[in-house]
Amino acid sequence: MSWGVLNIPAWMAPADKEALLSVLVDKQPISVLEIGVFAGSTTQSISTVPSVKQITSIDTFDLRYISTPALERLGLDRSFDPLNVFLQFLDELSQRRPDIDHVIRQEVVTKSTELDDHYDLIFVDADRSTRWLVDMLPIFRKRCDMLVGSHYNFGYAPELVVTVDSLFPNVQTIEKTNIWYDC
Ligand SMILES: C[S@@+](CC[C@H](N)C(=O)[O-])C[C@H]1O[C@@H](n2cnc3c(N)ncnc32)[C@H](O)[C@@H]1O
Repeated sequence: MSWGVLNIPAWMAPADKEALLSVLVDKQPISVLEIGVFAGSTTQSISTVPSVKQITSIDTFDLRYISTPALERLGLDRSFDPLNVFLQFLDELSQRRPDIDHVIRQEVVTKSTELDDHYDLIFVDADRSTRWLVDMLPIFRKRCDMLVGSHYNFGYAPELVVTVDSLFPNVQTIEKTNIWYDC
């Protein structure tokens, strides 16, 4: 199957992607670290923001970390290769936005992961477990001016909401979406 750039399977609801875009357009980051890429749907959104000149994308690109029901909700099965689709997207990106310097890292993000000292904005859409969030969100927060995340929905991801609220008492959300941010 050919995955045109407009057809990258998307996890985030359109309203959440719009909210992410509105945050990016408002903040005008130059450097963005994205943790949780899958096949690149949100990277595609990030790459439409004119201020953005550096994107680092980290994911396992490994379906072992994705449940079968989650894949089925996207209309996919285990033959889907997110890395292959993402590489096709990067080909298109290099032509459309040659001014963006892109780095792809295929790895599991842990406390040992080496990150640059500073990104203007970090977007995290990966592991939702309390353990990972408690370990990682403070590390991410120290490395950026603005930390943005998804899944802020008590019915769907209560652990994430409780953890984000406790770590970031001044967290802000975008109404009627699952996007949160701290800056
Ligand atoms: C919800 S999907 C990301 C969706 C993507 N942002 C989009 O909207 O299309 C979550 C991704 O996080 C990745 N992931 C989960 N835990 C991770 C970790 N510890 N390190 C790196 N990637 C991780 C998974 O491989 C999966 O592709």
